[in-house]
Amino acid sequence: MHGDIENILMTEAEIDECIRRLAAQITADYRDKSLTAVVILRGSLVFAADLIRKIELPMTVDFIQASSYGAGTISSGTLNITHGLEDDPTGKDLLLIEDIIDSGNTLLHLREYLKGSGAASVKVCTLLSKPERRSVDIEADYTGKIIPNEFVVGYGLDYDQKYRNLPYIGILKRDIYE
Ligand code: PRP
Repeated sequence: MHGDIENILMTEAEIDECIRRLAAQITADYRDKSLTAVVILRGSLVFAADLIRKIELPMTVDFIQASSYGAGTISSGTLNITHGLEDDPTGKDLLLIEDIIDSGNTLLHLREYLKGSGAASVKVCTLLSKPERRSVDIEADYTGKIIPNEFVVGYGLDYDQKYRNLPYIGILKRDIYE
């Protein structure tokens, strides 16, 4: 285990099991739809890479980037879309792929933005959700794991752009960010 990690919240095996369950649900639900996975950069890249390979349907993948966090751990509540979709979403069934829902601000803004894009539907799949931190009323359509209010990193999630490459999800030691 990395020296900056207090303990492991999800092992590689637990992540794999969780993703298999989500992918099976998505495969069943999108069988007659025109699925496009919209990967929310950068945190979702690792989750999305594993999830899409377990979805047994024809689909496309696009990317969007929205940024609200700097080096700190508190959401500013505002959102900048720094990279928009490449493909025309008209008529597509968009599934936003998120690594974590914290305050909910990122998702709320992105979902509303994409609902106005001409897409046939807009849903959300998140690996993690921290309901204790929610400041807006939003939940994902597909949730991997509900977690306590701890600062988590790894498997795509960062602190100050570090730890994204850890293969598990760990709780960061407090003295690293306080
Ligand atoms: C993180 C995370 C979510 C968002 C969740 O992204 O990946 O997108 O924060 O927080 P919220 O529910 O409070 O909005 P971040 O803006 O840190 O960018 P990153 O994906 O590049 O790490």
